[in-house]
Amino acid sequence: MTTDPRWLILGAGALGRLLAARLAERQPSILIGRRTGSNPLIMTTPEGEVRRHAVVRLTLAEAPRRPALIHVTTKSHAVDAALDQLAARVAADTPVVLWQNGFQAQPRATRRWAGPVLCAVTSEGAYTHGEDGVVHAGHGLTHLGHLEGRYPELATRTSATLTAAGLETRACDDIRRRLWHKLAVNAAINPLVAIHRIRNGELRAPAYRPRVEAIVAEVATLMAAEQIEPPETGWQAHVWGVIEGTANNRASMLQDVLAGRRTERDAILGPLLEAARRHGLSVPALERLRDDTPQ
Ligand SMILES: NC(=O)c1ccc[n+]([C@@H]2O[C@H](COP(=O)([O-])OP(=O)(O)OC[C@H]3O[C@@H](n4cnc5c(N)ncnc54)[C@H](OP(=O)(O)O)[C@@H]3O)[C@@H](O)[C@H]2O)c1
Repeated sequence: MTTDPRWLILGAGALGRLLAARLAERQPSILIGRRTGSNPLIMTTPEGEVRRHAVVRLTLAEAPRRPALIHVTTKSHAVDAALDQLAARVAADTPVVLWQNGFQAQPRATRRWAGPVLCAVTSEGAYTHGEDGVVHAGHGLTHLGHLEGRYPELATRTSATLTAAGLETRACDDIRRRLWHKLAVNAAINPLVAIHRIRNGELRAPAYRPRVEAIVAEVATLMAAEQIEPPETGWQAHVWGVIEGTANNRASMLQDVLAGRRTERDAILGPLLEAARRHGLSVPALERLRDDTPQ
């Protein structure tokens, strides 16, 4: 069977639409959703420009069996089911790129998928608008790599295509550390702002600050136990810097709660609680956070 040069993008939500719209003029791709669609994707750029992109939109049952690569852009809790469906449809050695936050889907998928599995850590921001729209809220930077540093050539080639399409991407050999770093920051911010329905900057108020500090202290201990190098400024300063820099943002977990969608609580807090169990560490602030956070 010859390889179809097109990429599949599985999950026609915010990130999937962003990839499909950005790649439209650079890399032949198919956006795989729950339904087939013929409408163009309408992307609003961070600069406020509205662009229409003709994008092939199919269901997985109609997808080529040997695509060049598959981007999985579902939420973390949907990855296992997505990989089951992919395994029944596409060649087992097809390379996969995972775009999820957290550190739950990535090790599982890397173990179970026969082909190369790269993980992406991105600070791109996007949200959906209607049936066919995506708002690219802000330019970011993406890092791409295999959990054990394998497939550097694939990571470099894929990064070059994404960068040329306007999504600046760098191949790296330390994606595990980058995933944990993003998870650590997400754990300190997202659940609390979702519980209290507040913007990130409001965490600086005296009502929330001690709880953030207690969570970050436990996360720092866990990161050390996992031998994840801390940020240069230390964990507390790093997290408060992110809170400062995103003060006006409504975190994705808050948006999920407001829209009545399932949150990524387990993908973010689950790996931390699991690490605490493994290392025999007590993490009362994180346990309370898990209990308070909507699933
Ligand atoms: N959006 C961002 O700016 C951003 C930035 C960084 C990281 N991320 C991460 O990227 C991941 C995706 O985020 P998102 O905001 O794009 O989520 P999203 O808008 O909820 O999109 C996920 C899409 O995947 C679809 N899907 C799930 N399982 C599927 C399946 N088996 N077959 C076909 N479609 C399926 C969902 O459809 P249904 O709704 O019908 O289930 C939904 O349309 C998350 O892990 C998030 O943390 C997002």
